[in-house]
Amino acid sequence: MYKILILHGPNLNMLGTREPEKYGNITLADINNKLEHLAKELKLEIETFQSNSEGELVSKIQQAYGKFDGMLINPAAYTHTSVALRDAILSADIPAIEIHLSNIHTREDFRQKSFIAGVSIGQISGFKYNSYLLGLRALTDYLFDY
Ligand code: DQA
Repeated sequence: MYKILILHGPNLNMLGTREPEKYGNITLADINNKLEHLAKELKLEIETFQSNSEGELVSKIQQAYGKFDGMLINPAAYTHTSVALRDAILSADIPAIEIHLSNIHTREDFRQKSFIAGVSIGQISGFKYNSYLLGLRALTDYLFDY
């Protein structure tokens, strides 16, 4: 059974009340529940993890080496700033899909640069919580080589 790591970056613990017009009304716990249901359907094992700390996210990604088969990552604001997360993804050496609730390409200029996109197999951006579910399906297809 494939094991997938799902990472949520800074401020995503505030979902539900945080800028709902951009990110929706759903909480992070709701998103993780939906992911658990879909994982069962797709016969995957998932682990979810949220941190506001760049270092904690780097350590979690490093630990994925040899332990997980793929990852979904919403790096949140670190998308636009973090060479460290980018390097960690390379060091984990597993396929990653970059996830965003909002469409970062229609927002401020500074959000249109992603340090993560170049080390991901793809990016899903703009479908609110469904970005995660689409990402899990896409990663499954990628792993099964459909
Ligand atoms: C986000 C987009 C980022 O620009 C922002 O900093 C976030 C959330 C998204 O999911 O749309 O915190 O990653």
